[in-house]
Amino acid sequence: MKMWRCTVCGLLYEGENSPKACPKCGSPAEKFELVSEEQVGIIERARKTNQLHSDLLAELAKVEAIADAGIEDNLDPGCLRTFTKAKEATRLVRQFSVAEIRVHVNKGKWG
Ligand SMILES: [Fe+2]
Repeated sequence: MKMWRCTVCGLLYEGENSPKACPKCGSPAEKFELVSEEQVGIIERARKTNQLHSDLLAELAKVEAIADAGIEDNLDPGCLRTFTKAKEATRLVRQFSVAEIRVHVNKGKWG
């Protein structure tokens, strides 16, 4: 499968030929460049990991909401400490994941 990149907006398009116009920004076909086979391989290899990061961020948001509810509930000092630590942990892991996503995007691994 060939992959094309819109040089105007960055959209990646999979197909034998570039689209007549960019589905996202409307730029004409000549604004598309063919993505190298090596880069396509890098993108395809990273897709699973990219999805795992997306899933992780979604789950972290759920855990943070639970932690917030536990902090608000504030049954006793042990519970408060546990939910506070959970909230801190979600924030730390989120920053790890976001940093990795940033690296993937900058290296063209996100597509
Ligand atoms: Fe575009």
